[in-house]
Amino acid sequence: MGLGIFLLSFFFLAVLLDSARSGDTTGQLLRGINDYRVSLNLSSLTENENADCLAAQLASAFKGQDCSNTTGSDTVPGTEEQFPDFPDYLTACHLNATVTRDGFIMPACVPDLAPDLVLANYTKSQYNQKLNDSSYAGIGIAEEGNWVVVVLTTNTATGNYASAADASAGSFISVADHNYVTLLLLGFAIYLVG
Ligand SMILES: *[C@@H]1O[C@H](CO)[C@@H](O)[C@H](O)[C@H]1NC(C)=O
Ligand SMILES: *[C@@H]1O[C@H](CO)[C@@H](O)[C@H](O)[C@H]1NC(C)=O
Ligand SMILES: *[C@@H]1O[C@H](CO)[C@@H](O)[C@H](O)[C@H]1NC(C)=O
Ligand SMILES: *[C@@H]1O[C@H](CO)[C@@H](O)[C@H](O)[C@H]1NC(C)=O
Ligand SMILES: *[C@@H]1O[C@H](CO)[C@@H](O)[C@H](O)[C@H]1NC(C)=O
Repeated sequence: MGLGIFLLSFFFLAVLLDSARSGDTTGQLLRGINDYRVSLNLSSLTENENADCLAAQLASAFKGQDCSNTTGSDTVPGTEEQFPDFPDYLTACHLNATVTRDGFIMPACVPDLAPDLVLANYTKSQYNQKLNDSSYAGIGIAEEGNWVVVVLTTNTATGNYASAADASAGSFISVADHNYVTLLLLGFAIYLVG
């Protein structure tokens, strides 16, 4: 009994810390990128849920890989890492190749996600040309381990990351949707305690 409550409290705390930490990096980066957009006289980017989802899938896929001078924002264009499961990530996020075509995916690898370095990896690397592009209107961000993934979306049918017609085909809980799982478990924990 006592042990059960202890474990639950521990779990609850871990969940809180986890969501606080992840909300922090991505929220800070979003604000930093939008400040940068405003400084360039461009519109702020609006958060796009499906792009958030794809970013989360990719961040999970990158997680555990080491940072080097040829990964993340230092990747030589044309040598981007291709994930064989990418079509599954799209499906899990209710997306297809049509609605994502003109979007742009930008992974960055920064040890411990030091906030200043993370922002600089976007505003002071090859990615700044993409941020300084008025055709992008939306954004998705996720982080896992030392990796952050930013997905830029347009407001056209070939890049708006709108849910694809066969959205129901997507699985409810995907690899990286740990926030949903967390919420479910949290609800369960509260139910047990209450
Ligand atoms: C910023 O954008 C507005 C509206 O598009 C334009 O009138 C203005 O000249 C721009 N300012 C700069 C500094 O580019
Ligand atoms: C990357 O690092 C390796 C080893 O540290 C070095 O030999 C190489 O020149 C570096 N490449 C670039 C593009 O900086
Ligand atoms: C990006 O982050 C790396 C750390 O992984 C850092 O060494 C590098 O200076 C950063 N790049 C820019 C352009 O700030
Ligand atoms: C952003 O793009 C505009 C128009 O293409 C260009 O004049 C400006 O120098 C760019 N700014 C940066 C910081 O890249
Ligand atoms: C992707 O989804 C869009 C929006 O539902 C739809 O118009 C388009 O035909 C789909 N493309 C493919 C290749 O399935």
